Amino acid sequence: MAAERTIALLGGGQLGRMFIENALRYPVRVTSLDPDPEAPCAHIAHDFKVGRVTHDATVLEHAALADIVGIEIEHVSIDALRSLKAQGKRVIPDPDVLAIIQDKGAQKTFYEEHGIPTAPFALIASPAEIRAHSILLPAFLKARTGGYDGKGVMPITDTEDISKAFNGPCVLEQRVDIALELAVLVVRDDDGRQVVYDPVEMVFDPRYNLVDHLRAPARIPERTAAQAQGLAERVAKAFNAPGLYAVELFLTKSGDLLVNETAPRAHNSGHHTIEACASSQFDQLLRLYMGWPLGDASLKSPAAMINLVGAEGEGEPEMSGVNEILSMPGTFIHLYGKKATRTGRKMGHVTVTAPDHQSLDRAITAVKAHCSITPVRSRHSIEP
Ligand SMILES: Nc1ncnc2c1ncn2[C@@H]1O[C@H](COP(=O)(O)OP(=O)(O)O)[C@@H](O)[C@H]1O
Ligand SMILES: [Mg+2]
Repeated sequence: MAAERTIALLGGGQLGRMFIENALRYPVRVTSLDPDPEAPCAHIAHDFKVGRVTHDATVLEHAALADIVGIEIEHVSIDALRSLKAQGKRVIPDPDVLAIIQDKGAQKTFYEEHGIPTAPFALIASPAEIRAHSILLPAFLKARTGGYDGKGVMPITDTEDISKAFNGPCVLEQRVDIALELAVLVVRDDDGRQVVYDPVEMVFDPRYNLVDHLRAPARIPERTAAQAQGLAERVAKAFNAPGLYAVELFLTKSGDLLVNETAPRAHNSGHHTIEACASSQFDQLLRLYMGWPLGDASLKSPAAMINLVGAEGEGEPEMSGVNEILSMPGTFIHLYGKKATRTGRKMGHVTVTAPDHQSLDRAITAVKAHCSITPVRSRHSIEP
């Protein structure tokens, strides 16, 4: 193996943490930059810096000595990534790809230009323009930049909702009659070789607009699964740059597949790959950064992944249900080491592998019944 190389990660959240957990097995150094001194990567990166990933000079300084620059959050400085690429560093995702993906409007336009099926939409500069596109209602309004995990997305049923709409540039997107939300991970290397994972089925928690749980493989006909994989592969091919692409899809009630959005990084929908696949999404990403051969994406067992999000309130997190969960076969707890829990904050997840979907159903029910992350009063806040 070649001399030790350094990967500078922008962001220090749970995706970075799970990336580092795997990378520690190899001769690589991983540094992480995050504004939160207690971010999930803070105590496990080889080097951790506190700073803003959107600030050019901070990013340039953080990555100055790195060979490879990666992201674990999309809202990072594109200018800094472009400079780092110009300096000869290996930057994944490519800054041009990330620039398209950071802007939901540019992303939708990109799909349209590449003949990739996506829900009908219009780009609008302000809520007043919704009226002119009332043909798209009922719809979803999406802030072009800055949204994540459902923040920045709101339903607009009729023109009465205009008064509640976000200000600023948005995508107005026709509401799709969704039968199932799917996600497909594709890894693309420098030579355009692609490895694709089985589609996963995502179930959302309407309270927080976050993935509640998912299962792999999705319970869809083989033909639909192949179509979803084909579509995700087309997306990665259209971006035409090495990367890990998590493609979110809608399967409509009439059986059509539409691309919703793509994340050019590790994704919540791929966490089960740690235990359920030959090579996890984090291992693929490392292989990609290093220019090593891509791994085997095949699913070794059906699996479910249940997000553990903070219950109502704020404080030091306490998890219940560890004994119950660990006494079930094929369960794996991942806690992200966040020092504070908040309502709806992603604090960890549980993966379950089981021989069939019925066993997964039982396991999902059990995890949801036993596991919770609740805030306890921190020591500092206890009154004398
Ligand atoms: N056109 C649509 N029709 C129906 N539901 C949608 C539509 N667009 C988004 N949604 C719902 O909102 C969720 C969040 O939207 P998405 O564009 O994926 O934003 P985010 O960046 O927050 O993940 C989707 O997973 C889906 O449940
Ligand atoms: Mg999404």
